[in-house]
Amino acid sequence: MVVPGSQHIEDKMYHPPEGLQKDAHVPDFNCYLELYKKSIEEPDVFWKEVASDFYWKKPPTGHILQYNFDVTKGNIYVKCMEGAKTNMCYNVLDRNVKDKNLGERVAFYWEGNSPDHHEAITYGQLLGQVCRCSNLLKQMGVRKGDRVAIYLPMIPELVYTMLACARIGAVHSIVFAGFSAESLCERIMDSQCSILVTADGVYRGEKLINLKQIADEALEKCREKASATVTKCLVVKHHALRTQNGDISNKLQTPWDAACDVCWDEVMGQVSEQCEPEWLDAEDPLFILYTSGSTGKPKGVLHTVAGYLLYTSLTFKYVFDHQPDDVYWCTADIGWITGHSYITYGPLANGATSVLFEGIPVHPHVGRFWEVIEKYRVTKFYTAPTAIRLLMKYGLDPVQKYDLSSLRILGTVGEPINPEAWHWYHEVIGQKRCPVVDTFWQTETGGHVLTPLPAATPLKPGSATFPFFGVEPTILNEHGEELEGEAEGYLVFRRPWPGIMRTVYGNQERFENTYFKKFPGFYVTGDGCRRDKDGYYWIAGRIDDMINVSGHLLSTAEVESSLTDHGAVAEAAVVSRPHKVKGECLYCFVTLKDCREFNRTLVDELKRQVREKIGPIATPDFIQNAPGLPKTRSGKIMRRVLRQIARNEKDLGDLSTLADPKVVEVLFSQRCETAA
Ligand code: PRX
Repeated sequence: MVVPGSQHIEDKMYHPPEGLQKDAHVPDFNCYLELYKKSIEEPDVFWKEVASDFYWKKPPTGHILQYNFDVTKGNIYVKCMEGAKTNMCYNVLDRNVKDKNLGERVAFYWEGNSPDHHEAITYGQLLGQVCRCSNLLKQMGVRKGDRVAIYLPMIPELVYTMLACARIGAVHSIVFAGFSAESLCERIMDSQCSILVTADGVYRGEKLINLKQIADEALEKCREKASATVTKCLVVKHHALRTQNGDISNKLQTPWDAACDVCWDEVMGQVSEQCEPEWLDAEDPLFILYTSGSTGKPKGVLHTVAGYLLYTSLTFKYVFDHQPDDVYWCTADIGWITGHSYITYGPLANGATSVLFEGIPVHPHVGRFWEVIEKYRVTKFYTAPTAIRLLMKYGLDPVQKYDLSSLRILGTVGEPINPEAWHWYHEVIGQKRCPVVDTFWQTETGGHVLTPLPAATPLKPGSATFPFFGVEPTILNEHGEELEGEAEGYLVFRRPWPGIMRTVYGNQERFENTYFKKFPGFYVTGDGCRRDKDGYYWIAGRIDDMINVSGHLLSTAEVESSLTDHGAVAEAAVVSRPHKVKGECLYCFVTLKDCREFNRTLVDELKRQVREKIGPIATPDFIQNAPGLPKTRSGKIMRRVLRQIARNEKDLGDLSTLADPKVVEVLFSQRCETAA
């Protein structure tokens, strides 16, 4: 099978710098191989050692990992540390403050949207705030197992709230604050959240966003759909917006409903800074995080306490070779899995000092990232290829203004990194001194699954290299046969690791159908992959109907359904087209209802419609009029053909199954050259 987009790019290897190897946790490739072997052959011994770093109120009773990955043998399940009792929040905060004496260490340097807004938060302070928030949530009626929706920007209160949930055993469901009211409503309803935590507003670059208004719209939509599970809305006043820019209350005119809304600032001062953690079972849920699904409805990926703790802490420690004097910065938003695992849980479990960044890369100037690195003397920096490509466009000047000599390791995540971006990152940002760890993983995997270790793994630009400890990848062909040696096909995993998702919230059947049904015995990633002659893994991208825009997965079905919700559209088909900065972008074909005219106004309306239904990340770049869509005789849309039209590939191959080949000619003649 040839996976679209895969190509042999470059075989040159980049060896780890010796300086880095001296004190590294995994100092060379042999050490990696030995540890890997142990993790596969003696998983109990391996993970027990990892677990011994943490606090367990009660130890586990049986094997560390128990599972069934084979649908033909019964329900799919994964259990880690069964029988044990622990608390995530205790392990990432109290353990650091009390047992390790790190109360004075900075947990986060919060850096606001504007460089004038910043704040250092120590582990001791963080614990105090989290305890207050825990008491507040309890006072509002939140109990163990309840779901709490969090719709907050990248402010410290976001971390306080998620850790407070973890402390009292509530299940957080964080919704990225760029999602629309409709998307927020859908997520609140799916997991029947009892509380919503939001903020009045936030600046994203120059743009002021009235978050509370969007949150209210979402709650109103929930009520309309007769499923008003949210009883209270806790609202944070964005402090930075008040101190420097003057009071923005007038601009926002925050809507307020005294029966439902609770003002964070008023109540946080009235609750105690002490809160006993709730001791949870190892397999109790920690959080739900929604990710796009190919049917259109997002899936609530469920992660549980103990396994996620072990896995995010270990991957963070090894993949970024964490050292006590590090200042680490992951530029993701906590609304995505990267932020959950590698801003909050993984770094805090290691007692790390991190930058928590609210801003965007180009505000107030295009050197902002590099300025922040200089300001905090960042040593480990983790970002997405789309950000690298965006910043590359501005050339060397904005980079050279700043001192980047503190950097030791660079990381990327979210999509395949193209060689040009890799080299720029390595040479210009890392000054050839810093290994680039290309980490492949998913919301579902909880943490890195294919990744280099910076002091151990020789790098090949564009390859996520080898499996992390405990992870056993393999490549299958269409018939489910395992391929040996150099091969190309479906990337699957043969066994679980502690951090893998446990189910789709409220829908075990969908969980099994999506990830385990196609190839019994394996977890199917949905990505195509190639293994080269040296055993390196190269991710080729999605082989389902998902499109990766700027490192975020979008479901074509979801975008199509928001297009067809418009009164003028009879049918829509969405495919991906390569994009210089975003990696991929959305190219939409719309067939209009009789007597509707395709014009600029309609295109704008359709774009707005998708933004409102899903959020700005899903805004289509191209919308083309399609008087007819290429369909097989049985009525199935041939997406391959649409993809080729979008990319202007004239050689369309075999079209014999098309019901009406003339459709293709028409579509080619009306192709969009430039973005709408
Ligand atoms: O297609 C792969 C791509 O992102 C997908 C997972 O998306 P999401 O669940 O939103 O999580 C993104 C952050 C972990 C994968 O199925 N992907 C992620 N990392 C890489 C990648 N593709 C290539 N290389 C990567 N390093």
